[in-house]
Amino acid sequence: MLKGSRKSQSELLSVLPHQHFSESNGVLDLTFSISVGQSLSVKLIVDSKPGCGGIAWPAGQVMPPLIVLFTYKTANPLGNKCIVELGSGTGLVGLVAGKLDPTCKVYITDQAPLLDIMNKNVALNSLEENVEVSQLNWALIEEIRGEPIPSGVPSKADIILAADCVYFEPAFPLLVQTLSDLSDAKTVILFCYRKRRRADKRFFSLLKKRFSWCEVVDDPNRTIYNKEAITLLRLFKTDGRKGK
Ligand SMILES: C[S@@+](CC[C@H](N)C(=O)[O-])C[C@H]1O[C@@H](n2cnc3c(N)ncnc32)[C@H](O)[C@@H]1O
Repeated sequence: MLKGSRKSQSELLSVLPHQHFSESNGVLDLTFSISVGQSLSVKLIVDSKPGCGGIAWPAGQVMPPLIVLFTYKTANPLGNKCIVELGSGTGLVGLVAGKLDPTCKVYITDQAPLLDIMNKNVALNSLEENVEVSQLNWALIEEIRGEPIPSGVPSKADIILAADCVYFEPAFPLLVQTLSDLSDAKTVILFCYRKRRRADKRFFSLLKKRFSWCEVVDDPNRTIYNKEAITLLRLFKTDGRKGK
């Protein structure tokens, strides 16, 4: 759990009223409605022992419908695309992308302690064909250390997904660097952010040196998760050419 959070897994999973979940023996069964009469289910092992990413956080929970929204607005948005999710935790967001389109290749990434739970979740959802688990520690690819992006993670992504990754101030520059390393001007970056503390401003000051962004405002669920201080942003790589 993040410092200061006393919510149980059940409370954390109640942001969107029309999403359903049940829990049995540590496995969550989450169902997202994706269009009238159509839904998508993901099974998720949750376990807080490997770290805070081992549970399903609210921002990660509201992100799957955004991916669905994106897939309806764009022609063949995920088809054959290379998708990298940063700070995947359980892998929920990337698993949803992998389920939505079996032709896309999804890399769900996080630090070493989370890899086991992510691998189990890939297997639980039979997504081994198009979802791969890789270790990607933002610190390791910081430019000034000269570390390459680890093998097992593509050097550039068509789509980057990140949910609830802004919470630990020392990691802010590393997250910005990682987003920058993996993207170019064409990369679609969907970034689900939960405002926690004033220090988050520092993240956005760093971000604006390389990216601009806009809030996704046409999501019908927006007013619900905005009340939980969650916003969905689309980032655009600018490398300082223009900032927000
Ligand atoms: C609050 S959790 C969110 C997990 C998931 N995206 C979700 O929404 O349920 C933040 C995630 O960022 C990961 N993380 C934090 N610092 C990291 C770093 N330096 N490199 C890679 N991942 C990191 C954590 O391990 C954790 O899984």
